[in-house]
Amino acid sequence: MPTPDRIILGIETSCDDTSLCVLETSGEEKKVLALNSYSQDFMLKKWGGVVPELAARNHVEAIPPLLKITLDEAGIDPKNITDIAVTTHPGLIGPLLTGMNLGKTFALLNKIPMTSVNHLFAHLEAIHLTEKIQYPYLGLLVSGGHTAFWWVKSSSDMEILGTTLDDAAGEAFDKGGKLLGVGYPAGRIIDDLSKSGDPKKISFPISYLRDRPGKMSFSGLKTSLRVRLEKMAPEEIKESLPDLCAGYQEAIVQTLRIKTEEIIEKILNQNLRKFSTPIVVGGGVACNSRLREILSKHFKNVHFVAPKYCTDNAGMIAHWAALNPELRLPFPECLEIDALSKVVEKK
Ligand code: KG4
Ligand code: ZN
Repeated sequence: MPTPDRIILGIETSCDDTSLCVLETSGEEKKVLALNSYSQDFMLKKWGGVVPELAARNHVEAIPPLLKITLDEAGIDPKNITDIAVTTHPGLIGPLLTGMNLGKTFALLNKIPMTSVNHLFAHLEAIHLTEKIQYPYLGLLVSGGHTAFWWVKSSSDMEILGTTLDDAAGEAFDKGGKLLGVGYPAGRIIDDLSKSGDPKKISFPISYLRDRPGKMSFSGLKTSLRVRLEKMAPEEIKESLPDLCAGYQEAIVQTLRIKTEEIIEKILNQNLRKFSTPIVVGGGVACNSRLREILSKHFKNVHFVAPKYCTDNAGMIAHWAALNPELRLPFPECLEIDALSKVVEKK
């Protein structure tokens, strides 16, 4: 790579993953020099979900060693960092503030600019870390905190087309996994267990919400799983675990497939069969093997963010800042940047 023009430190702490990245840019070229994440999963398993206050404290402890490891691996002296990219919204406010304070400390020490990064935009735009996709595209963001369709006109201009009214798809996996007693976060575990199950053996209802195009609902699904489990003996649950997982996963995946079709036909007013605009799927649930299989089968031009950039990671944060140099706030104005917990209303 030619002489770098920016060496960006990416910081992601919006939920329960502490993640840091050093990304180098030279003109259009971008190279991830180091990307390291520290997952709090093993601690949060105990509660079956994220405890915001604990997550914030864990970030404080995880950041110093992670920073040293990441800078060493990148072979970068802290003084040579030219830019900070930090997730400022949306997320849990305590965890967000922890990452933002690291960013501001660096900005202050090196007198460098900082980019405030929208975590949701970064999830979708992570596609460009590995593939070149033309704008506009239809974005489907499926994560633990959000499930939404976006019309993506550029890396910083996205219009929301539809959202979940209640739980996110990842939340449905995690809450279902808690009921099934498979561990946290449950998405990957349910995905793995489903591989030896039959999705048709134990089926779960799909919430169509036909009168509200583009709107999704996943909270009824976990209730139907709970009701189903209450009628089963512990032995039976154990024996049927792969089928239960496969049936439950299928309901989530088919909901996303049906809602993608509905968005294309009823919101974008386009012919489903002729629709060839790229569809980009990002966020933790985009790792799901059945979702990849079903969407690839049903849609012509569908692209999935690479698994290592799907779940929360600072690579996508640094990368988004690299794509949007004009959005850098110079020092010292960047010290005024604030964190915001919510950006998408579930209504
Ligand atoms: O994007 P992400 O890391 O965090 C948020 O921004 O929320 O997504 C985490 C979510 C969790 O709910 C996790 O269970 C889910 O992604 N997940 C999966 C898979 N891998 C992670 N869900 C289904 N199948 C997977 N293979
Ligand atoms: Zn995320």
